[in-house]
This record gives sequence, structure tokens and C-alpha cells, in this order.
Amino acid sequence: MAKERLDKLMASTGRWSRREAKILIKEGRVLVDGMPAASGDDKVDPAVSEILVDGEDLGYQTFTYVMLHKPAGILTATEDKRQETVLDLLSPELRKQGLFPVGRLDKDTEGLLLMTNDGDLAHRLLAPKSHVDKVYYAKLDNPLKPADQIAFREGITLADGMVCMPAELELLGDGREVLITIREGKFHQIKRMTASRGSQVQYLKRLSMGTLQLDENLEKGDYRYLTAEEIQNLGGKI
Ligand code: URA
Repeated sequence: MAKERLDKLMASTGRWSRREAKILIKEGRVLVDGMPAASGDDKVDPAVSEILVDGEDLGYQTFTYVMLHKPAGILTATEDKRQETVLDLLSPELRKQGLFPVGRLDKDTEGLLLMTNDGDLAHRLLAPKSHVDKVYYAKLDNPLKPADQIAFREGITLADGMVCMPAELELLGDGREVLITIREGKFHQIKRMTASRGSQVQYLKRLSMGTLQLDENLEKGDYRYLTAEEIQNLGGKI
């Protein structure tokens, strides 16, 4: 693991917020290799240094799990010669940790993107047989109707003949805004599903993936470490 800010490392355990971590550090209750830490800005590699909080080992994580609020206009990729990718939004320290996005959001889609270096978890979350629910909020040009809800539940057939697994369609207001829950991840799936019912997506945002919900306090383009509880609920390693 690369060096990371001490307050961020402490917050990544889910036991304290960054603000609480800073207070503990100020109070001299955090020791790095036996010496009281000076500031939350101190860069520490938890794989190399011993970090004690009130005499207790911090217990650093084997893997890193980050939730990004992906903005529109950014590519879901680890690198690209011409365009900005979601990796470019992370700190240089995190970029060195081999994080990759779990699944893909289109360039114009916003919302929850989990980034990790835990390949096993990514594989489990993405495997079609895992049936992990993904919830999207969409704005549409034409309203969808109760008949479309039935079609979604029965399994939409896309323009190319591909049949989708049963999905949930919730109509908000007049049906120009919807919540859609899918359990697979075909290319442009939401856009193609609504298009097959005569309605084009104008705006798309992912709200959740399995047990993981987008933290609405995260501004677009910002990210945070998952809490210990979020990692545990997803099936990651603490
Ligand atoms: N479905 C889409 O059409 N686009 C996304 O980005 C995600 C799901």
C-alpha cells in the first residue's frame, strides 16, 4: 500500500470521520511508529508503519474501496490517451494502488461508481449469476406507463433481439422520471431498455449497487473511502 494522509487512513476504517481523526491527532492520541503524529496531513504507509490510536492498532485494510460520485463527461476506464478517466479524479496516492472501476457507466452517466483493487469482490459483484441489484434514476423524453412496468417485469427484448432479465420500473410523477432496477449490466442497458418502449434517456444517474448507496453528501467528482460496514455488507475484506 502506498503512503496516504493519516486522517484519510483513519477515516477509511469507518471508525472516525476525517474531522474526528484530526482532533485525535491534535490531542496526541495517535502514535506512528511510537511517536505522536503531528498532523492529519502526515503521509503514512500503514503496511510499513505501526499506527496506534489510544494504544490500539489501527488495523489497516488489505484492499482499498472507494465510492466515487462520477460526473458526466468522464470516461469509466483506467487510462485513455485523449480523454479524462475516473482514475484521473483520484489522488496520486490512490492512483498508485491499482484501483479499477467495478462495472462501467457511460460517459454521460453520473452517480455511484465503486473503485477497488479487490478483484474477487469485483468479480462477484459483476458476475451475471450474482444478480446484484443496480438502481438508476432516469429522466426520459416520453413518459413510461404502467404497461411498460409489466414489460420490464417480464423481461424487455432489446432492438437486437437480446432479452433482458426481469427488471423493476418505478414511475415518478407523470412517468418522465423513473427508477429502474436491473440485475445485469449489458452495454447501454438502461438506454436500450427505455428506447425499446419508445422513450429516450435524457439524463441517467446510478444510485446504488447491491447494498452500496451513493452518498448524497458527495459532490460530483468527489470520492470517499467505504466505511467498514459498507465493505462488510458488500462482501469485501476489512
Ligand atoms: N445503462 C446505460 O444505458 N448506461 C449506463 O451508464 C449504465 C446503465
